[in-house]
Amino acid sequence: ETDAEIKKGLAGVVADVTAVSKVNPETNSLLYRGYPVQELAATQPFEAVAYLLWNGELPDERQLAELRARERRHRALPREVRAAIDLLPLEAHPMDEVRTAVSVIGASDTAGSASVLDASGTPEQNLERSIRLYAALPAIVAYGQRRRRGEEIVEPRDALDYAANFLWMTFGAEPHDTVVDAFNRSMTLYAEHSFNASTFTARVVTSTLSDLYSAVVAAIGALKGPLHGGANEAVLHIMDEIGDASNVVPWLDRALAEKRKIMGFGHRVYKKGDSRVPTMKAALDALIDHYGRPEVGELYEALEREFVSRKGIYPNLDYPSGPAYDLMGFDTLTFTPLFIASRVTGWTAHIMEQAASNALIRPLSAYNGPAERHVEGYEPTD
Ligand code: CMC
Repeated sequence: ETDAEIKKGLAGVVADVTAVSKVNPETNSLLYRGYPVQELAATQPFEAVAYLLWNGELPDERQLAELRARERRHRALPREVRAAIDLLPLEAHPMDEVRTAVSVIGASDTAGSASVLDASGTPEQNLERSIRLYAALPAIVAYGQRRRRGEEIVEPRDALDYAANFLWMTFGAEPHDTVVDAFNRSMTLYAEHSFNASTFTARVVTSTLSDLYSAVVAAIGALKGPLHGGANEAVLHIMDEIGDASNVVPWLDRALAEKRKIMGFGHRVYKKGDSRVPTMKAALDALIDHYGRPEVGELYEALEREFVSRKGIYPNLDYPSGPAYDLMGFDTLTFTPLFIASRVTGWTAHIMEQAASNALIRPLSAYNGPAERHVEGYEPTD
């Protein structure tokens, strides 16, 4: 085992095959089950994208109606989940809150709890668990934000589809079509991205024949970090620090001198720009018009121009989605939980794929600790 064989961060390693999505950095494209993500974001409700990720095909009208009916059955906040959230301090990070809530849902679903040997579930059970999580997450995220603001819970409304109902449960007001559209697009764009850190984590957990909920809880832990999902929250902190487009140059001088990473820029796979950015930037522009907040666009563009010209590193999806969620009225701390609500569809599609053609994921390591040595005074006693 030499250093040359080690791919630090598994960079460039192809770990398995997947039919869920394809990232092509050369053509700057991302396909979900063959469909370009921009086309899905422009034409499909998020429910149809979830169906596609799970089942491999877009739903027909009846299939979409059936998924929507199942989503409605599970979209109210489960009583035990609310009770668990209420026990947490208000200062708990929302990612920890959502991780805990998912864990409570898992522990409350007793199918397969008799023995670890049953826990990994049948394909039907796993699809049911996936739908249950996808349906419950909006209520969890919305309740979290309302609780922190000292507001009452808002019950779901049957007349509203997924995106509009999510906004309704968060803000207690019927959302404008422009906002629903931007939110729906963001959910589609965040849904899936091949073997990113959280998805790979979910697959590692699944590969031990553990259960779907455990895999999702672990994935949430991986998503929390600022090098992954936490970046959309971090983008807003940066924008707040800069304040105004005219401060971009001095702020960036200082940040780069301090060797800070500029959140919302750069990507392990895309080196020439993130395929999801133009679609989300268009949604952000629509929100800027809707809310009459041109200064948000000015700051966005000034920082992008300056950073790209200095470093040649392009924005990733978190760069436009951060300010978009801020304009919609989400608290900054709620941004990464929104990413969970979307990515749970991709995670669970990968979990089911991993389960269907499983091999335990267990790589090797090259040892670089002390050479073999012995405990002083130890005498072997045959
Ligand atoms: N700001 C400043 N410098 C950067 C940035 C950045 N955002 N991204 C990369 N670089 C520099 C980095 O310092 C390094 O420079 P040098 O060669 O002089 O040491 C060079 O570019 C290569 O970067 P790297 O960190 O080795 O590349 P990576 O492939 O490991 O990093 C990344 C990918 C996403 C971790 C990194 O670009 C980053 O930290 N970005 C900021 C956090 C962020 O926006 N994350 C969201 C990722 S996309 C959404 C998701 O999938 O969750």
